Amino acid sequence: MNKNLEVIDKIDEVFKDAKEILESAKNLNELEDNFRSFTGKKGRLTEILHNISSYSPEEKKIVGAKSNEAKNEIESIYNRKKNELSGNENKKFLNEYKIDLTIPGNRIERFHKHPITAVLEEASDFFTSMGFEIVEGPEIETTHYNFDALNIPADHPARDVWDTFYLLNGLVPRTHTSSVQARTLESKPLPFRVIAPGRCYRYEAVDATHLFMFNQMEGLFVAHNVKLSDLKGILEETVRHLLGAKKTRFRPAFYPFVEPGLDLDIECVFCGGRGCGVCKNTGWIEVIPCGMVHPNVFKYAGINPKEYKGFAFGMGFDRIVMLKYNINDLRLLYQGNLDILNQF
Ligand code: PHE
Repeated sequence: MNKNLEVIDKIDEVFKDAKEILESAKNLNELEDNFRSFTGKKGRLTEILHNISSYSPEEKKIVGAKSNEAKNEIESIYNRKKNELSGNENKKFLNEYKIDLTIPGNRIERFHKHPITAVLEEASDFFTSMGFEIVEGPEIETTHYNFDALNIPADHPARDVWDTFYLLNGLVPRTHTSSVQARTLESKPLPFRVIAPGRCYRYEAVDATHLFMFNQMEGLFVAHNVKLSDLKGILEETVRHLLGAKKTRFRPAFYPFVEPGLDLDIECVFCGGRGCGVCKNTGWIEVIPCGMVHPNVFKYAGINPKEYKGFAFGMGFDRIVMLKYNINDLRLLYQGNLDILNQF
């Protein structure tokens, strides 16, 4: 046999040794060292081929193929053994440290919006898509903007409707966001459409549906020829959008700053109009007090009521959130209880 081809037998021999030695490795370090001692730069397999450059092309082809085959085999033995040994080591580690893989991990707290904020943003988006701007006013208000400018003079019995906290300095925590109506009429160039979301305060006994602090979203649309049908269209669309309301109705109501004044009811979302505890067996839920801006309110702001018309509304915002998320106790929204809030 050609002398150079004797190297093929050597490769076989090295392979046999490699197989035996790698198979009997007791741990990963040993396996690693042994693997190198065959295939590393100074490994036995590598050494055998050190003078392959002097071989003829045919010899190179045969010897090359043989050595590649041996190398691949050694590598696959190494890989298999490595998996086996690292599995063993993991098991050993787990036994030693008694790790219980079935214990649930720490829950990662994810930030999400408070339901009131989420609905507030949804409603704001809805109104701004119809050209409404968002405006704000102070929470501590003068009685002028909270009452007088809204056609509620001091001696008017209607003032009692808003159970007002009076501060020692004569100011009031606003009882409704309608105060922002009065301010906006005075300062904003006409025509305009605005919404004014914000907190309001009333001296009330706290129960499931009343708190002394609550959220309202005021709306005011003023232009030359705003009509009751505009109010109807926009507010019906609002309750459809926000609450999925299918049936609605308007009832006459009295608010000194609107004429006519109305309450928009939706068919009770809990019982479908059949009557239940939530709708007090009426089949309807009142959601948006509203009406056409009273001429006196325009006059107070220096606007000619013959020239401009408008409609206004004041949504009890917490109530919208309760209806939307099926919450029966308003207090739950304000206690900061994560077990409750995380459900939304
Ligand atoms: N401000 C009224 C309230 O809080 C609601 C309302 C606003 C009614 C706008 C009509 C128009 O009771």
